[in-house]
Amino acid sequence: MAVWHVRDFAPDDLEAVVRLDGESPTTDRPAVFRLSEVVAALQAQHPCVVATADGHLVGAAAGRVDGDRAWVLRIGLHPAWRNLGLGTALLSALEQRLRGAGARTVAAVLPEEETGATALGNSGFRPQRGLTYFEKARSVTAQDSAVLSSLGATVPAAGLWGQLTGMADEKQLIERRLVLPLANPELAAEHGVEPPQAVVLFGPPGTGKSTFATAVAGRLGWPFVELFPSRLALEDGLANGLSRRFEEIAQLDHVLVFIDEVEEVAGARNLADPASVGVVNELLKAIVRFRDRDGRLLICATNTVAALDPAFLRHGRFDYVLPVGPPDHEARTALWASYTAKTGAEAAITVLADASEGFTPADIKQAARAVAQATFERTLDSGERARPTTGDYLHTIRHTRPTVTHDMALEFADHTIRYGRT
Ligand SMILES: Nc1ncnc2c1ncn2[C@@H]1O[C@H](COP(=O)(O)OP(=O)(O)O)[C@@H](O)[C@H]1O
Ligand SMILES: [Mg+2]
Repeated sequence: MAVWHVRDFAPDDLEAVVRLDGESPTTDRPAVFRLSEVVAALQAQHPCVVATADGHLVGAAAGRVDGDRAWVLRIGLHPAWRNLGLGTALLSALEQRLRGAGARTVAAVLPEEETGATALGNSGFRPQRGLTYFEKARSVTAQDSAVLSSLGATVPAAGLWGQLTGMADEKQLIERRLVLPLANPELAAEHGVEPPQAVVLFGPPGTGKSTFATAVAGRLGWPFVELFPSRLALEDGLANGLSRRFEEIAQLDHVLVFIDEVEEVAGARNLADPASVGVVNELLKAIVRFRDRDGRLLICATNTVAALDPAFLRHGRFDYVLPVGPPDHEARTALWASYTAKTGAEAAITVLADASEGFTPADIKQAARAVAQATFERTLDSGERARPTTGDYLHTIRHTRPTVTHDMALEFADHTIRYGRT
């Protein structure tokens, strides 16, 4: 009869458990729970038991408790100790601890025939046939995460794109030129399409440039890093700050870098001011280096494309210079439809779209919010559920100054022709 000793995992066992994890598998299929997840569970002191024989670690079973469900993350056996009942013994000790930690259901997901399958069967675990395991990994590797957190990266939700209302032309352009080639690089390459690496979005304030940039990162599942020139300038000069940030960014496989109000960094070089020349030059160099590798996108946004240094917009740096204009009548209708629907109003949305020429999505959002708040207060005051009317909206629209004046709209149209590269 085999002699082993089962006990709780101790921190000193970690190295042996990791080694065992390499020896134990009997199939080529990767484990559902990665080794890093097993180690994280051990470090967080989730239940784990090990078996020793002759002073060597010959088996381990690790679990993790999530509320009243626990997962068996790993059953590992040294090859010489297979088929002796050790797996079953480990599992029984682990199960006891998982139950003690509050688990009502204990579950395991294994490749077929993998080490541990027999032990699970012997211990009363029943296979659930006909289930399919789905997985979607985020494209962030472990070594990336330290860099990402130091850069203040976020991973925007994929659903943001769907929440962008109206703006159908811009949406289509950005989806086709940016999102689809980056999301389907092989298909793009087959067609001789080079996915973009750097683009400029320009247009009046409040048209959704920042929102688009975030939503693109969400669509791609890439981390989003925004660089704030005003903050970088507080380090030892803006040029140094920029160069250091781009060096960190260079370590990442996939990333969307966003610089808002880029004219502050890339405004026409003032030759009398060597610092401003240094900053523009540094950014130009950083863009060239950034373009060295695929799978990354730099988006620069500006309200004043005409103020950018001409060298900045020269070919070879930015793949596209895309206009994001004030919403047209159709886009305004869609925006009003979405906001009025949220309040239960039955407002005449075409009338609202007519009355809000020059409004940006930000203006419409602000006006809709004011009406919603006023209606809410009316309900509180009267005790009866109030609903906003078309008149309420028109009143607020008339008291809102549109961001985009007639002159600005003309200028934007002119800039689209002069600077746009779509
Ligand atoms: N297409 C859109 N649908 C809904 N809301 C939008 C849309 N575009 C912009 N917004 C909202 O308008 C505001 C301003 O957008 P933002 O992206 O900051 O504009 P910009 O960067 O062009 O100045 C944000 O609150 C954003 O949520
Ligand atoms: Mg913005």
